[in-house]
Formats: sequence, C-alpha cells, structure tokens
Amino acid sequence: MISLAVNETIARAVEVLRENDHGDYTIPTKGLYPFQWNWDSCLTALGLAHYDEARAWTEIETLFAHQWPDGVVPHIVFHVLNDSYFPGPEIWRTNRPTATSGITQPAVAGFAVRRLFDRAKDKELAAERARALLPKIDAWHRWFYENRDPRGEGLVAIIHPWESGRDNSIDWDDAFERVPTEGVEAYTRRDTLHADPAHRPTKAQYDRYLWLLQHFRALGWDNAKLHDASPFQIVDPGFNAILIRSAADLADLAETLGEMEIAKANRARAEKGLLAMERLWSDAHGQYLCLDRVIGKLVDSASVGGILPVFSAIPKPRIAAIAATIERIAGKARYIVPSHDLDDPRFDAKRYWRGPVWLVVNYMIADGLAASGHTQVAQRITRSSVDLIAESGFAEYYDPLSGEPLGGGRFTWTAAMVIEFLKSER
Ligand code: DGY
Repeated sequence: MISLAVNETIARAVEVLRENDHGDYTIPTKGLYPFQWNWDSCLTALGLAHYDEARAWTEIETLFAHQWPDGVVPHIVFHVLNDSYFPGPEIWRTNRPTATSGITQPAVAGFAVRRLFDRAKDKELAAERARALLPKIDAWHRWFYENRDPRGEGLVAIIHPWESGRDNSIDWDDAFERVPTEGVEAYTRRDTLHADPAHRPTKAQYDRYLWLLQHFRALGWDNAKLHDASPFQIVDPGFNAILIRSAADLADLAETLGEMEIAKANRARAEKGLLAMERLWSDAHGQYLCLDRVIGKLVDSASVGGILPVFSAIPKPRIAAIAATIERIAGKARYIVPSHDLDDPRFDAKRYWRGPVWLVVNYMIADGLAASGHTQVAQRITRSSVDLIAESGFAEYYDPLSGEPLGGGRFTWTAAMVIEFLKSER
C-alpha cells in the first residue's frame, strides 16, 4: 500500500518534469520562469536521471554550452523569446551568441555531475559525458576564485542577491541600504502576474535588483571589474558551501577519471574554503552567518544560508551544533527547514526567501547531515519534505507553519527533489 502511494507520487513528479521539458533543457515552471536557470537545471538533472540517464547529462551539457569565455556560467539562458518574464534579454544586453543573464548562481554542477556519475547504470556513457564536463566545471570554479575572491581569502562573494538563489533573504536587507535606486529605468514586473505579490519580493527590493543590473551592464559585464565596483559584496556561507562541496566532488571525480591537475586544483580550493569558513561561525546563533565584505562585518541574520554549510565537510562539532539548531527550529515550525529563524521578528512565513521552506535546500541539508551520521535529523527533514508534497503538491516553496503551497506551481526542481527523497527513503 505504502509503496503504491510512493510509486504514484513519483509518477506525478515525472509528469511535472516532462511537462517542463523543452528537449535539451527544462524550465523551472511555465509563465513565471520560462527559460533555463543554472542551479535549477543541475538539480533537476538528478530527477531526470531516475528515468533517462542520457537526458540528465544533456540538461547540464546544455547549460555549459552557454558558458562565457572567461569561465562564468550565467544564471539564466534565454533559449527562446518569451515576454512572460522580466527582466528579459533586452534588459541584460550581455551580447552573447545566445542571450544570457550576466550574473551567476550557486555552483551545484560539480556535485550533480559526480552524483550522476556515481549512480550511473551506464558507466561508459557516464565516463564519456563526465570527462567532457570536467574542464568546464573546473573553469567555472577557477573563475569564482579569480573574480569573486580578489584578495585570495578563500571565500567568494556574491554581487547580486539573485546569485545566491535566495533572492530576497533578510540577509541582504542591511547591505541593500547601500544600493541606490536613482536612475533605475521604468519597468513592469511580470512575476506578480504569475504568483501572489504577497509571496514575492517587494518593489523596493526589485528597484535595487535592477539598479545593480544596470550598474554592471554599464561596466560592459566585465567580470574583472564587477566585484570591486559593486556596493553589494556578500560572502554567503551557503553559497560558499555549495562551491566547496562541488570542488571536493569534482576533485574526487577527476581522480577517478585520471584528470590529476583538475583534481589537485579543486582539492586545494575546497580545503582553503573550509578553513576560511570558520570566520563566519556564530556561537550565539549555532550556525554560520553572512559576511558583508564592504564593511568587513558579519550580518546578524540567522537564515538557512548559514545552515547549508553542513552540505560541505565542515568540522564535526559545527555539524552537531547546526543539527541542534534545526531541532530547536523544528519545535516551532510544523515543516522544516524554514529559510529564516522563526525567532527573528523579520521572519515572514509566506514571502519567498524570508521564511518559507524550499525542498532543494532541504535536500542539500539532509544529504550533508546523513553523510555525517545525523540520520535522525536528516530523516525528519526528508519526512517534512515528503509530507509537504502529499499535502500541497509540487509548489515552488511552502509556508513552514501551515504547509500552504506558495509561489509558482508545478515546479520542476521540487518534483526532482521529491523523486530523490522517495527513492532514497526506500
Ligand atoms: C527571479 O526573477 O525571481 C529570479 O529568481 C532571478 O533569478
């Protein structure tokens, strides 16, 4: 009976993936996000692999086919014309053969490719496809440390909130005070046509997203200049942990495939990053915090970005402290892991990244906790994720107090994560 229900849920998840599949890339959801998004695609590939391994490799290959010559992999690839999204290619004006945005997103590709390879039934196919991707992912990692860690501190900064994937997190509020809004060209949002405005970032936040975009565009999208020229430079522990995990995974994979130079470079990046991460630890919050690089201070904001580092090989006592933090939060929220601490008066259960639960984040946290022996907390997160699907369907994100589905519907990476959770639970 139970496995019948599981099979049925997996079949419904596959339906969502197929609906959003455009042949060689998958859109996150119709209307709200009609193009290819970077980290969405890499995590979606894990779901695709459960029923079509070759298609899963193609998903990541399509993304990397639009890598820039300097190594950066853009956060959106505008494969087709579609005016249901703003800001589209006519705003970004990055001057690429296929239009792309000009910023990047969490570097989850190294992790995803290793996982695809490790699980592949067709090892020959996997070795061939992985071998071709290795130097491209390595180039992206190199780009990060060259362009977003100009002083060689071991941690990279994001220069736009969209790069973190956690667009309107409370983490950015103080730094956003520094981002002006004068000169922002008139614009019409489209996201609020597809999702409830109360679940989305505010106009004040959008103005600043666009000011930064225009500022970088005026600098010709020259990555050698953007970091230092940005009034917004945040070292996000979650973003760095994903990059560190991907660097370590890429190193392992490169070793298996005999690519020793790539292995060595990525091992060194991961080790340096893990040492530097210590600077972001907060005993008071029992988790990591963001660092505002412009003023050199930690940001007093306990978000899920500071819990995500369990996805990388941080010291065991840090993992244990974060597991305890999650248990504390679980005493207050019906569903875990909320994107912000419920004790913070700025917590908002429904607004995008200011409180709601996201299954991709749950997946990475549970993966890290399970790997380090915190199986009970990991299982609790998995259970919460599966319960949300059963009660509220494949939403973009969920209210941690009520379980209400929020944002876009029939969401690709949510479906991919459900397949992952259910298959690993069996
Ligand atoms: C958006 O437009 O909401 C996106 O998150 C940017 O990537």
